[in-house]
Amino acid sequence: MRHLIDIASLSDADIQRIFDLADRFQTAVPSDLLARKIVINLFYEPSTRTRVAFEVAAKRLGAAVVNLSSAGSSVEKGETLEDTFRTLQAMQPDAIVVRHPTAGTLAGLAQSQIPVLNAGDGSGSHPSQALLDAYTLRRARGELNGCRLAIVGDIRHSRVVASNVELLTRLGVKEIRLAGPEALLPDTSAGSGIRLCADMDEAVDDADAIMMLRIQKERIGDLELPSSADYHRDWGLTEDRLRRAGPNCVVMHPGPINRGVEISSKVADGPQSVIWRQVANGVFVRMAIFAHLLRPDDPGTGARV
Ligand code: NCD
Repeated sequence: MRHLIDIASLSDADIQRIFDLADRFQTAVPSDLLARKIVINLFYEPSTRTRVAFEVAAKRLGAAVVNLSSAGSSVEKGETLEDTFRTLQAMQPDAIVVRHPTAGTLAGLAQSQIPVLNAGDGSGSHPSQALLDAYTLRRARGELNGCRLAIVGDIRHSRVVASNVELLTRLGVKEIRLAGPEALLPDTSAGSGIRLCADMDEAVDDADAIMMLRIQKERIGDLELPSSADYHRDWGLTEDRLRRAGPNCVVMHPGPINRGVEISSKVADGPQSVIWRQVANGVFVRMAIFAHLLRPDDPGTGARV
């Protein structure tokens, strides 16, 4: 594994090692593991959690981080992604983390000798988010095998769903119910164990975990959407709806949250929510990704923690 572009390019051993390293980092951080390394964050879309988590993760392991947003950079003077990337590559950093609005665009950059980490490409994939979601769900539930997961919201445009479905089915999640307004569902069901639901109650009944998503307003073009109040009535996760799933069901959300639209504050801040644990684990999992990518053959990655 040289790059992190999508879930398909990860082997089972890569996934296991990332989870094992994240577990170790929970209790001890080798703060000089990436000493003298330089990571560049190149972001063409807004980000709070992902960008800062990559930065905190790199810094905790001793790397220096340079942040570049398309706003305020030469992208505004017409420079292409490829030329911006080549410019950064010429400065010989040790890794480049990229978020870009066009799905599939990062595959071309993966010819590079320098590791490229996908921090979200349009509605394509978001592998580090899926890894932290799977890691959080596994820790919260004990295991993923046999788990029934409901994912509710803008399924069609979500890179988080695309990567999670791919990863979680590989890791043994038994059933994934994808629910949302018809216009925000994909045209076809993605395969066995995956069910499209046109009704929220059907999706959450007896679920072991519910992942709520915001509507990707920046990707839906001129699709007509219901008002926030109507959306909340039909597709919002409220305490009443959560009762259908049962007291052991965990509630997830990749953020950013739109309170009172896809999720009520009572649920987001309630005892079944693991939303803030997802954020905390996002740092450990990204530390593990850096350790695995930048020190792949270093037995010390384990021994030194
Ligand atoms: C998600 C993203 O950017 O795809 N957020 C994140 O990375 N935590 C989800 C979203 O924007 O809705």
